[in-house]
Amino acid sequence: MDRAKQEAGYRAADCVRDGDVIGIGTGSTVLYAMERIQERIVEEGLNILGVPTSHQAAYRAVEMDIPLTTLDAHPRLNLAIDGADQVDPGLMMIKGRGGAHLREKCVADAADTFIVIVDESKCVQALSGAVPVEVLPFACMPVLRRLTDIGGKGEIRTGSGKDGPVISDNGNIIIDCTFREIPSPAKLERTLACIPGIVESGLFTRYIKKTKLIVGKKEY
Ligand code: 5RP
Repeated sequence: MDRAKQEAGYRAADCVRDGDVIGIGTGSTVLYAMERIQERIVEEGLNILGVPTSHQAAYRAVEMDIPLTTLDAHPRLNLAIDGADQVDPGLMMIKGRGGAHLREKCVADAADTFIVIVDESKCVQALSGAVPVEVLPFACMPVLRRLTDIGGKGEIRTGSGKDGPVISDNGNIIIDCTFREIPSPAKLERTLACIPGIVESGLFTRYIKKTKLIVGKKEY
């Protein structure tokens, strides 16, 4: 699987042009794209700036000498490179199982092109399973109740030792909400966005037109 992630990551990194300002997503597949960008900076003198979507991405970028900037300085990005947890045939996605979907969505929204890099296991016929939802801690319990009202079953994400809630880079709680089925991801994204206390869901349904999907293969 890592070979597939590497192929996808490297192909995305090869789409970056000199002078681009790019969004840097979060996760293991994006790390391969960063690895190839680092190579291109050293080998070709590629000149880019990156906006990281998490502390993890920022930390790795600093380690790799990839220059960083912010959305304040660059509200419009040439492209963003990011992974996904599930992608359906219509390019609707679930993201955020790494807990970074709020900043990832801000960066995707700011980008002219959204390059999504996945291995084949992420391509599904229909989105299913838990939808990550970032929630203001103040409203955690009411949000859990409202999720039940709309047919979901929410569970507060905890650390590996179950030693309390996972806190996002933005100081919020992540609720993983399972629905029996997701017949309309776009409608569900809008419904979740209307619940006070939900900061952002991991459903990505609005960037289809500017999405370029790269699926890495195990063998290449
Ligand atoms: C983090 C994300 C990641 O892009 C998603 O979880 C995929 O990660 P990986 O490339 O490690 O499989 O949305 O919030």
